Amino acid sequence: MRVLGLETSCDDTSAAVVEDGRLRSNVVSSQIALHRPFRGVVPELASRAHLANLVPVVERALAEAGRGRIDAVAFTRGPGLMGPLLVGKVAGQTLARLMGVPAIGVNHLEGHVLAAELEHRLRWPLVALIVSGGHTDLVLAKGPGRYRVLGRTRDDAAGEAYDKVARLLGLDYPGGPEIDRLAARGNPRAVDLPRPALAGSWDFSFSGLKTAVLYRLRESPGDARGRRRADLCASFQEAVAETLVDKTLAAAERFGAKDVVIGGGVAANSRLRALMKERGEARGLAVRLPAKVLCTDNAAMIAHAGWRRLRARRVPRSGRADPALALRSWA
Ligand code: KG4
Ligand code: ZN
Repeated sequence: MRVLGLETSCDDTSAAVVEDGRLRSNVVSSQIALHRPFRGVVPELASRAHLANLVPVVERALAEAGRGRIDAVAFTRGPGLMGPLLVGKVAGQTLARLMGVPAIGVNHLEGHVLAAELEHRLRWPLVALIVSGGHTDLVLAKGPGRYRVLGRTRDDAAGEAYDKVARLLGLDYPGGPEIDRLAARGNPRAVDLPRPALAGSWDFSFSGLKTAVLYRLRESPGDARGRRRADLCASFQEAVAETLVDKTLAAAERFGAKDVVIGGGVAANSRLRALMKERGEARGLAVRLPAKVLCTDNAAMIAHAGWRRLRARRVPRSGRADPALALRSWA
């Protein structure tokens, strides 16, 4: 079965075709240049850009996938920004109606959990870490459609912490890739920063770490420049990566997970990927890292999650756009 997927929940306009778990095309048009001057995603601008970009993006995804009937159209119905979600929902439902096929409203977080399945044969139960600008969720998945959110951030999302620290250091938005790039030249042991553990809980907290960087810069403003800036980036990145990796692996052991997967924009971070792999394998866990284009927002994961529901004959009744949609089991 071939599913056309649409993703418009935030600032990437994407369309993809997935056939029985195999990627046929995945076109992503990023709006980052549009939002950069505002240092964040402006919802109204994002909605308008999705409207302008979606048709050409869909046309390219269909052309690249080659001939073949589309059996369903999956779109992101939440969580995300209301205006951008509505654009994808209306487009998805209209296309489905014209094609005479089902429209499937997909949870964006389920897409991130299942993205690794486009490249790996997953073993269940698994633990998934979803880390982006808006989310830091630790999920136990007993199978496709069987989810339990174990923990989440109590304050800033991991990507938000990256973006805020980047701003303190005078770096461009989004800050994650900038810090990642500078950190490669720095010493991760140069600055001693806290690893917020929240013992006894699967939740995370990153605002204390961000504040620690702020205080450090007040005491020693020279850390915002040159070599010392690279050291501070590396030290911050190490603290974030260790915090995320240690809790994720502890959860994987506690719940008997066979595989560990990651998703979301921060899952593109080079240190997080390397450390998860290294420490996971040392504990005998298989760490499945999706390609970076499947970690950041993309329609391939939406099409794939839609296919999972179609195959299980559990197409959701509601296609209502919901900015705060929670991840729930359906199987
Ligand atoms: O998933 P995503 O593309 O959009 C949503 O937030 O939904 O994630 C964007 C976030 C931004 O906060 C960005 O700074 C972060 O992901 N990010 C990174 C890297 N690439 C993107 N953070 C750390 N290292 C990276 N290489
Ligand atoms: Zn996302």
